[in-house]
Amino acid sequence: TNHFTFDPGFMSTAACESKITYIDGDKGILLHRGYPIEQLAQHSDYLEVCYLLLNGELPSAREKAQFVDIIKNHTMVHEQLKSFFNGFRRDAHPMAVMCGVVGALSAFYHDSLDITKPRHREVSAMRLIAKMPTIAAMAYKYSLGEPMMYPRNNLSYAENFLHMMFGSPCEPDKPINPVLARAIDRIFILHADHEQNASTSTVRLAGSSGANPFACIAAGIAALWGPAHGGANEAVLNMLEEIGSVEHIERFIAKAKDPNDPFRLMGFGHRVYKSFDPRAQVMKRTCDAVLTELGIDDPQLELAVRLEEIALADPYFKERNLYPNVDFYSGIILKAIGIPTSMFTVIFALARTVGWISHWQEMLSAPYKIGRPRQLYTGSALRDFVPLERRN
Ligand code: CMC
Repeated sequence: TNHFTFDPGFMSTAACESKITYIDGDKGILLHRGYPIEQLAQHSDYLEVCYLLLNGELPSAREKAQFVDIIKNHTMVHEQLKSFFNGFRRDAHPMAVMCGVVGALSAFYHDSLDITKPRHREVSAMRLIAKMPTIAAMAYKYSLGEPMMYPRNNLSYAENFLHMMFGSPCEPDKPINPVLARAIDRIFILHADHEQNASTSTVRLAGSSGANPFACIAAGIAALWGPAHGGANEAVLNMLEEIGSVEHIERFIAKAKDPNDPFRLMGFGHRVYKSFDPRAQVMKRTCDAVLTELGIDDPQLELAVRLEEIALADPYFKERNLYPNVDFYSGIILKAIGIPTSMFTVIFALARTVGWISHWQEMLSAPYKIGRPRQLYTGSALRDFVPLERRN
């Protein structure tokens, strides 16, 4: 007997109300608090978008300066947190490190455990936004065996991230390329929120039990890791590597179309966008700017562009509304900047942290219930226990 709506994959279930992000997948529209993503990517910066997502309005000049100041106050991590990195193999996947270290923050900030107080929730949100770049860069430096870099608060959020990733104590004032910093800032903006995707829903579900915000964000990072979600940008580069050159594209397109072959074109298709992904369009322009700046004639970009052309002209992809998504181009930008593939999903996690924490805050700021889906049971009917000696 079916008392429940059966909706595997939540294709048609709205699990909450939200005022944060609006998506019209058929028209390719993405709005944060009403503002189109294209305008935010063009005219705003990541910390301003963070303020907007968290608070609902764009900040005044004074509010913005205050917000940036608070974030800068929290960019360092507890010295003891460094010991956590030493527990990992140097060749550990940095997402494995992120799941552990971000979850471990709850061991450092005891006020985060009492989520009933709004000021505790607020300071946890600020700590997360401020510390994610530091922790992400520490994971990278640890993998290289290089000294971890302290944040520099005279830099912007994106510049500081590049400083901690690529800086060295021998050259503490090495200038940061502004075109690359702007590109990283755009990548952060374009990944900042995307309503109830798998990782955000995970954060809400974990949060609905009253778990602390660092534990909830660690759960979000875990959900993001998969190749069908945040792992896609890494998978795009691995796929381009596997395809190798333009003459092999047709063979891989055929594999992607074969219903008996699990291979899919990574960076193509989206659960919600069925005409185009507005983020992918901005990303493509940013990608061009970065490659022009660096003067890189990247054969992988040429391969990506040809792949896109061939796929878009193919009826299989047209009929199923499969278009390049945000991850298709972000991978190429990150590669050009010199960021290794294994860090791509970490950067997605860093940028999405504000979305996760905004949804968590929104949920906790109004009456809510613990998330508890039901199921359609398809197992055995009632039966009697069989003692071991009578089982065959
Ligand atoms: N390549 C080839 N065929 C595909 C692809 C693809 N990338 N995506 C979907 N299809 C086919 C699929 O085989 C199915 O065909 P048929 O109807 O003949 O069985 C049809 O299109 C519908 O696919 P679906 O799996 O039912 O669609 P979904 O909404 O459940 O999946 C998706 C969405 C993003 C998981 C999927 O398109 C996919 O696996 N894409 C590749 C991975 C990727 O790029 N993910 C990043 C998503 S955007 C960033 C993020 O949210 O993190």
